[in-house]
Amino acid sequence: MPTIVIKLGEERATGYIAEMHKLDPDLKIREWPDVGDPNDVDIAMVWKMPHGELAKFPNLKLIMSMAAGVDHVLGDPDMPRGVPLVRVTDPHMARSMSHWAAMNILRLHRETAYYEDLRSRREWAPERAFDTDSVRVGILGLGYLGTHVAKMLQAMGLKVQGWARSPKSIEGIRSFQGTDGLHEMVASTNYLLCLLPSTPETVGIMNADLFARMPKGSHVLNCGRGAQLVEPDLTAALDSGQIAGAALDVFREEPLPQDHPFWTDKRIIMTPHHAAEVYPPAVAATFLDNIRRCREGLPLNGLVDLSVGY
Ligand code: NAP
Ligand code: GLV
Repeated sequence: MPTIVIKLGEERATGYIAEMHKLDPDLKIREWPDVGDPNDVDIAMVWKMPHGELAKFPNLKLIMSMAAGVDHVLGDPDMPRGVPLVRVTDPHMARSMSHWAAMNILRLHRETAYYEDLRSRREWAPERAFDTDSVRVGILGLGYLGTHVAKMLQAMGLKVQGWARSPKSIEGIRSFQGTDGLHEMVASTNYLLCLLPSTPETVGIMNADLFARMPKGSHVLNCGRGAQLVEPDLTAALDSGQIAGAALDVFREEPLPQDHPFWTDKRIIMTPHHAAEVYPPAVAATFLDNIRRCREGLPLNGLVDLSVGY
């Protein structure tokens, strides 16, 4: 039986199918909602598909998230949990995420909003020093992306530490675990960057209690998932000065509702879930490799452990 792939859900970036066909012109790929006979389909590629859709394909052998995160798949109560689920781990994405982190930590640290404001008033200012030596970045999540980001920030001369479920040995980067470890890390973190997967354990992790444990005037950056930040707690911490500024790429509700207060809050840098893209020319080969591995019964790349949810 030939492999038939279904591409389900929202478009992330155009060009996946063309890139996959460059590598395997004979691969049969259908695009939702034109699914044909669902019995034929054995592989699904998905990004934010409506719940219940995956369950309509009774012969699936592999589900490929077109993203690093899999919360968009696991949030579907009808997702067929017996089918292996793989996710994207891609160096292009890791570089892109590292650029987002570096760009926004520097925008906050070097106070670009202040300089833009000065410029708008045609005002020159005396030279000043930026105390980079006493600044420390704390990364929530030292996985595939968090580790790349940590190493790039370290190479830029920043002190970096990180938190994960398991201990890590990354040269020059202290790692913390557990709730006590989290509290210890944030007490010496000036830039807290979230790169955690969205799971029941991580939802709401960036909240008033955590902010209160950070040095006054710290900064918060979220490029994990919107549900990990308690948004009103961030606004309150910005109002009190406990948090001096933030950079957010992900939000509880996306697209961000028109009446959301973050749109007009100048203390928050925002990007519309664009921190790290899945770049079709780079990932097409990894999708095809996993399809081949599935056909040949070989170990899959980026296999998700459903028991932990990432
Ligand atoms: P990953 O390799 O699975 O890494 C996840 C990290 O989080 C691991 O270090 C893991 O610890 C840690 N972790 C998970 N649950 C934890 C918990 N309860 N307590 C402490 N640490 C925990 O994932 P990744 O590829 O780095 O991606 C991370 C997330 O980034 C994705 O899930 C997605 O939500 C987000 N993302 C966002 C964008 C964007 O454009 N905004 C793009 C790509 C990805 P262990 O290492 O000990 O397992
Ligand atoms: C994007 O958010 C991803 O998980 O790849």
